[in-house]
Amino acid sequence: MAPQLRNPPRRKGSMADVPKDLMDCITDLEKLFTVDKQRINELCDEFVKEFEKGLTEEGSSIPQLPTWVLGFPNGEEKGTYLALDMGGTNLRVCEITLMGHGKFDILQSKYRMDPSVKTSTAEELFGYIADCLKQFVHDHHEGVVKEELHLGFTFSYPCDQHAIDHGILQRWTKGFDVKGVEGVDVVPLFEAALKEKGVPIKLTALINDTTGALIASNYAHPDTKMGVIFGTGCNAAYMEVAENIPKVAKHNLPPDTPMAINCEWGAAFSDRPDVLPRTKYDVIIDKESPRPGQQAFEKMIAGLYLGEVFRLALLDLHQQGHIFLGQSVAKLQTSYTIDTEILSLIELDPFENLRETIDVLETKLGIQCNEQEAKLVRRLAELIGTRSARLSACGVAAIAKKAGLTKCKVGADGSVFNLYPHFKARGAEALRDIFGDAGDDIDIVHAEDGSGVGAALIAALTLERVKAAGLSRECMLRKGVSHAAVS
Ligand code: GLC
Repeated sequence: MAPQLRNPPRRKGSMADVPKDLMDCITDLEKLFTVDKQRINELCDEFVKEFEKGLTEEGSSIPQLPTWVLGFPNGEEKGTYLALDMGGTNLRVCEITLMGHGKFDILQSKYRMDPSVKTSTAEELFGYIADCLKQFVHDHHEGVVKEELHLGFTFSYPCDQHAIDHGILQRWTKGFDVKGVEGVDVVPLFEAALKEKGVPIKLTALINDTTGALIASNYAHPDTKMGVIFGTGCNAAYMEVAENIPKVAKHNLPPDTPMAINCEWGAAFSDRPDVLPRTKYDVIIDKESPRPGQQAFEKMIAGLYLGEVFRLALLDLHQQGHIFLGQSVAKLQTSYTIDTEILSLIELDPFENLRETIDVLETKLGIQCNEQEAKLVRRLAELIGTRSARLSACGVAAIAKKAGLTKCKVGADGSVFNLYPHFKARGAEALRDIFGDAGDDIDIVHAEDGSGVGAALIAALTLERVKAAGLSRECMLRKGVSHAAVS
């Protein structure tokens, strides 16, 4: 059999014509951003320890949040459910019909979320969400919802859950800063807004996008054991058993009860950032963010931040007199002007003379650059993209180690995973750096629609459990019975 090409494609074009000064800059950047095999293995071991600690009462920088999703679907779930997905840019409402055999049908509407909502108040945020649901009901049900339509709400921020239909927001992430929500149970806020706007819908489950990805992907491919989002934010979920989660011991679950854990790994090592291979640019991003000292890992790898790392590095090189000499770099001086898409375009530049890179810099940033500078720019994008993919894969490897997963699928979704060039191949290479050839058995594949179908499935599984226990949802809530008690 012909040997397979396993390594990600390398950049084309020679560096021979790059002057010494620029070449030195490139070498420095390579030192800063490269996470080599040894470093990634050390970090992976740190992650495993931190994941374990997070499951105990002692806690760790990785929250390891129990989700009260108590097991995988069996593929035969049926029925129609609503799902609400609050992403960073859009709000999506879906009506999902589960048809069994891992199949489903989906009807959905997207509503644009004005960026100002991100920094508004609880009332405005939940009022807006209720308005969108109302619109959906109006458009698709002539304003009337049958009572049995249940909703899974995908709210992808770290929430402490003591039951599947409750969730106290620990802290906002991904640049959100809505007042009056942190430390508060978001479900009553949501339900009050629904009531006020007269929207006849019941929330059945509050879920994280990673848990949704895990459950939706497992529904379609039962060998999926992890759900990961590589998007604006970055995070993962996997299935534990109760006996391995000391912090839920007080609920007296049977020891073999499965429980999905929302890791919230974006927060990893926020208390000890030196464990991470941070650069001075990562430090600035953290300092200038709405939540300094939080989400240290996420700020190095997620889509929201990749363009900002790139911007800060270019600006630094300009200020040191290495690139774009004598030019106005006004756009480079404005935070968050560079979208991850720009890095993608640069990495995708097919031309030997980097014509596309030069054009992108001119059109998007108003900067004229020569071919040698473009080589540095391109190398920088590669380094940032590669670091993101390798560190993300390091988290996946650590969960696999922690949970003893040697062969499985990982359902992955998000703009970085789906759109960033070479992300998958670079991640796969990092998995091989950690596990050798066995790294290929941890197969990161595109997830099913976790935030939609996953939320519907989790609502279905929850109702099933409630039914099996012979209690109405209202009755359980009134009595304060946690879902654990009816697992
Ligand atoms: C952030 C959120 C987390 C979410 C991830 C991906 O890390 O804190 O809950 O899963 O982004 O959207």
